[in-house]
Amino acid sequence: EKGGFETFMLKEIHEQADAVAETIADRTVRPDGVDLPELDDELLRGVKRIIVVACGTSYHAGLIGRYAIEEWARVPVETDVASEFRYRNPVVGPGDVVIGITQSGETLDTLAAMRLARERGATVIAVTNIMGSQATRDADATVYTRAGLEIGVAATKTFVAQVAVMYLLALRLAEVKGTLDDERRTELVTRLKRIPHDIGAMLERGTEKIDLVAERHYAKDFFLYLGRHVGLPVGLEGALKLKEISYIATDAYAAGEMKHGPIALLDQDTPVVVVATDSPVLEKVISNMQEVRVRGAHVIAVVSEGADLGEHAAEALVVPQTDWMLQPLLAVIPLQLLAYRIARLRGLNVDQPRNLAKTVTVE
Ligand code: F6R
Repeated sequence: EKGGFETFMLKEIHEQADAVAETIADRTVRPDGVDLPELDDELLRGVKRIIVVACGTSYHAGLIGRYAIEEWARVPVETDVASEFRYRNPVVGPGDVVIGITQSGETLDTLAAMRLARERGATVIAVTNIMGSQATRDADATVYTRAGLEIGVAATKTFVAQVAVMYLLALRLAEVKGTLDDERRTELVTRLKRIPHDIGAMLERGTEKIDLVAERHYAKDFFLYLGRHVGLPVGLEGALKLKEISYIATDAYAAGEMKHGPIALLDQDTPVVVVATDSPVLEKVISNMQEVRVRGAHVIAVVSEGADLGEHAAEALVVPQTDWMLQPLLAVIPLQLLAYRIARLRGLNVDQPRNLAKTVTVE
């Protein structure tokens, strides 16, 4: 049932091209737009504010969605972890759209946050991977991810499918609201449709470089992750993957916040994983890498194919080029694999890490 892979997690990492392809398939038939018949155009046209509620990895997908929706559709988006949202007497009501992202559709805190928002008059959309799950029953509308069943406790393919759904939502909203011209929408749809191919090509190329980096650092007791813009949630997700399956302490920070505290953590040994793919903020990211380097710490950078970051990175993990907003779908994969290799080198059970459950139906 593991299809020749040593673990479910590795199998599911390799199913990510399909997870994205299935999720976008019939929704990206038009060259210049996205179809999401699940969502009423009138609802989308009227939306003034969006609040995303989720937990864990799903929350990171929400963070990426925020950048895309705000940039493309110019609708303000808040993101909150569900367990915080529900207990802060949130200001939410008619006119707001609340998106609950939950792979299982059964996470108690996310369901409670969605119900609270609905009671207060918001329209609630569920993004879930499981047909007929509780989230679909608690929501006004559901947009499914189509990742297939995920067995490994650490979310991988469901994450990329969630991120793909957030892009679809953002593009649909931008079309309905008229905030992106035809040309830009066509470009983004074209790029999005190429992602499954890019993921496949990257995985086929093998993981030699990642294995080397893992071997060099697997015995370390702390990793710092840095990113800016959509690179930040990628860093957060990379850090979560590493801590949950390898039990190594991690911190993930907005790169611009480094000198406000976490820089004090750096010493000669510290591996610092930096998401440094092509983007309008790459120059800023590079100056953060320099700050790390002068402290003698070790920069492991995720970089775009063809980019030359020279000596800024001690180790470079290369991902294909795509639109900078879509880059998380590619950039997260070497970080999943790095966490995976490190956990395996430490001899751990990656499919069932200690203390964790696949579905969290208690607070
Ligand atoms: C991390 C992980 C968890 C889940 C979280 C939410 O790898 O799997 O952080 O993302 O428990 O689960 P769902 O999406 O089912 O609500």
